[in-house]
Amino acid sequence: MNTITLRPDDRHSVIDRNLYGHFSEHLGRCIYNGIYVGEDSPIPNVNGMRTDVVQALRHIRIPVLRWPGGCFADEYHWRDGVGPKEARKRMVNTNWGYVVEDNSFGTHEFLELCRQLECAPYINANVGSGTVREMSEWVEYLNSDGDSTVVLERIANGRSEPFGVKYWGVGNESWGCGGNMRPEYYADEFRRYQTYCRNYGENRLFRIACGPNTDDYEWTRVLMERAGRFMDALTMHYYTTTGPDWEHKGKALCFTRDEYYELLKKALYMDELVTKHSAIMDRYDPECRVGLIVDEWGSWHQVEEGTNPGFLYQQNTMRDAVLAAIHLNIFNRHCERVVMANIAQTVNVLQSVILTEGASMVLTPTYHVFDLYKAHQGATLIGCDVKADVSGTGEWAVPDVTASASEKDGRVTLTVAHLGMDAPAEIAVEAPGLRVAEARVLAGEPHAHNDFDASPVGIAPFADWSAEGDTVRLTVPPCAVLAVTLDHA
Ligand code: AHR
Repeated sequence: MNTITLRPDDRHSVIDRNLYGHFSEHLGRCIYNGIYVGEDSPIPNVNGMRTDVVQALRHIRIPVLRWPGGCFADEYHWRDGVGPKEARKRMVNTNWGYVVEDNSFGTHEFLELCRQLECAPYINANVGSGTVREMSEWVEYLNSDGDSTVVLERIANGRSEPFGVKYWGVGNESWGCGGNMRPEYYADEFRRYQTYCRNYGENRLFRIACGPNTDDYEWTRVLMERAGRFMDALTMHYYTTTGPDWEHKGKALCFTRDEYYELLKKALYMDELVTKHSAIMDRYDPECRVGLIVDEWGSWHQVEEGTNPGFLYQQNTMRDAVLAAIHLNIFNRHCERVVMANIAQTVNVLQSVILTEGASMVLTPTYHVFDLYKAHQGATLIGCDVKADVSGTGEWAVPDVTASASEKDGRVTLTVAHLGMDAPAEIAVEAPGLRVAEARVLAGEPHAHNDFDASPVGIAPFADWSAEGDTVRLTVPPCAVLAVTLDHA
């Protein structure tokens, strides 16, 4: 029997909405076809943005969107993507499939997308092959209303008011595709770049430094020691894979029982990563002023057969949905330090919430997890103790359930990931003074997924619960994600 004890009086930090953020790179069919089809497309669009995709993302209340990369960010020169489209520079996207990038989706298009989504833009600037001046002028172009040539350029391109972009990343994976730098070198580069990113008007920039890859704790230590006082946040990237090494990753749709548990066990590693990087940050920043941003996370499987290997297109099953729920429970629980997280990537790339093909759109199981969890956005984390049974075996043994809980406007939301794939989870929830108002579930056989011919995976009302006094007993199906709303009695 699993037990979960809710402690509504034990109130922690507010869960930043931005923990439910997304990431969209110029990679494969994420931006082009997936989000942006151009004004002249027969696919219904508003100013070139697919109406179906925008509506779906608005429904899950996407709070922040990171762009233009990823590795692409450090080869992106923003001036190539502004001004009349016919005059925009063509380039080859050498990171992702060597396809032509015609820059028809640029800065103004990205901000139009964010306007339609009602989400905050997070721009990741180029350090690897860019210059301080280029980044400084991008900030000026977007945020200033001064009498300068750069601002006149923006006005000539159709926008008189400053956009007021807050979130700015200084380089991406600067330890790898962003320039193969040493932490000492990057720390100095960050200090230099951020100096010339000016605040204009009321808008205060949120300066984001490139953080570590996975468990590179030395990178975090050096960055915090040398540049901590100049940054508002530090990033961290961790992708979850199966298989012996990066070159031999497992598949999205075809996996064994062991590979099921392997992926989930590796997803749980996110907790250790966040805990250990946070502990280093605590040493240099005990007041928790600098946030940790996990701006790339999710499953990374083999590409689907017959697709361009440089496009990173993969399907998405209930196994991935449980992985997402595990991650979001971890981020919620670490909300004192973790201020943003961005799943990679929004549409048609890696662990997408949406897949498209021509005019058709599919909502993946992962999409529905974001839907189930959206009540946590901006809520206060509350005490939630979990005593879980064990599922899986040997090396890949995992807790049967993980959970997190929050409260907003007098309503408590409890979310549960049920990792076990063989049997229902019996869970006794101690919920003093609380009564269940609603429960919803996403469940399915681990390989279950949605595709262009059928979408069997979706959220359903959950009725398999009973209450006696302050105890709620749940019987949760195997491989499932549950959201329970509780009111004060
Ligand atoms: O999300 C795909 C790639 O993974 C990103 O471009 C890069 O930052 C990371 O290595």
